[in-house]
Amino acid sequence: MEKIVLNVNKAAQFLAADKIASFAPATKAAIESMENGTCPGNDFLGWLHLPSSITPEFLAEIKATAAVLRENCEVVIVAGIGGSYLGARAVIEALSNSFAQLVNDGKNPVVLYAGNNIGEDYLAELTDYLKTKKFGVINISKSGTTTETALAFRLLKKQCEDQRGKEMAKKVIVAVTDAKKGAARVTATKEGYATFVIPDNVGGRFSVLTPVGLLPIAVAGFDIDQLVAGAAAMEAATGADVPFMENPSAVYAATRFALYEAGKKIEILVNFQPKLHYMMEWWKQLYGESEGKDLKGIFPAAVDFSTDLHSMGQWIQEGERSIFETVISIEKPEHELHVPSDEENLDGLNFLAGKRVDEVNKMAELGTQLAHVDGGVPNMRLSVPQLNEYYLGQIIYFFEKACGIHCQLLEINAFNQPGVEAYKKNMFALLNKPGYEKESEAIQARLK
Ligand code: PA5
Repeated sequence: MEKIVLNVNKAAQFLAADKIASFAPATKAAIESMENGTCPGNDFLGWLHLPSSITPEFLAEIKATAAVLRENCEVVIVAGIGGSYLGARAVIEALSNSFAQLVNDGKNPVVLYAGNNIGEDYLAELTDYLKTKKFGVINISKSGTTTETALAFRLLKKQCEDQRGKEMAKKVIVAVTDAKKGAARVTATKEGYATFVIPDNVGGRFSVLTPVGLLPIAVAGFDIDQLVAGAAAMEAATGADVPFMENPSAVYAATRFALYEAGKKIEILVNFQPKLHYMMEWWKQLYGESEGKDLKGIFPAAVDFSTDLHSMGQWIQEGERSIFETVISIEKPEHELHVPSDEENLDGLNFLAGKRVDEVNKMAELGTQLAHVDGGVPNMRLSVPQLNEYYLGQIIYFFEKACGIHCQLLEINAFNQPGVEAYKKNMFALLNKPGYEKESEAIQARLK
């Protein structure tokens, strides 16, 4: 099998010669300190050897539970937020037919998402849509107490029990949560739901290769063996003994760090395939929540091209030169579509007749890269042979490992997210949650 390939030449040209390679010892030290468990946040390194340690028996267990949901549900709702949601959606949307996502094809259930927002209309419309559907729920929350997810689950649980009866609800509701603590665990135990454990030492945004991601992906009908195999191949390709220039995660981390030191504070992840939109969202969460702390960190942004070439493209070409781009380029599309010839040629497009649509897309990609580099935007390119489970597994692990390395170059703990608590504290105080009486008083005084 091939590997995804990172090319940093068009970023290196903006840096002093050998600047990237000068970080080789630091990246090696960062990988070693994750290997020997001495890096900051070392109680959250369970993801590091996850791909190579997942057993076929465990995958079979996940597939068996997925089969129960697949047999008994037209629609499955994945309730979760952040790391308990984005990885599954990223993989499922990357692999799904773009126009079949809301239609049950008779083979795979429709997978929808809740618990990642508190939009009343969203939830009302979802519950309305589900009224005529045989649906099930995967309730995913490591803490088991996240308000957004818990609120959506409360609505969905009641609707599922009312519509399908308590016995069937028991069969089609699955919890993925902590082994012992949290309301999701308490409910699952009391109701007798099937459950999977999120390991203590795997943080949310590094958890896509645990049942958090694997169960929904299997329910959607995709090959989790291949996903894990791809990740395992990348685990081997990014180990401490792999020479720097052959280790894509080390090179990516070093290049980002060199650019950051050179004043490039914003990284824009780019795709030319709309199916990758949620892969960008997953990446934004992985990097944003891992490295945005201690007043440091590259701001992770993302664009879908060509769409955003006609909006953000202007900013990228001529705005403040504080950005760099990383393009995820899919070499071979799944389908083949040729531009037809037209006798009248009213649209003047006959110069494209006979070409594959992807050839046009690739020239848009190349033309954009050249234009942006000319405009002063360093550019990295991650070439992916095909959009399938195996290469998505590689992409996931590649970015995770690079994130762990880069955060150490930044001298921050990649694996906590203390800043996320601030909004929750205010929200609980404003909603008079029991236990927040003092905060409620203080916040009311601030609102006067
Ligand atoms: O990456 C993280 O740790 C977070 O994004 C969490 O996944 C997110 O806050 C959801 O938390 P929980 O799984 O506890 O509901």
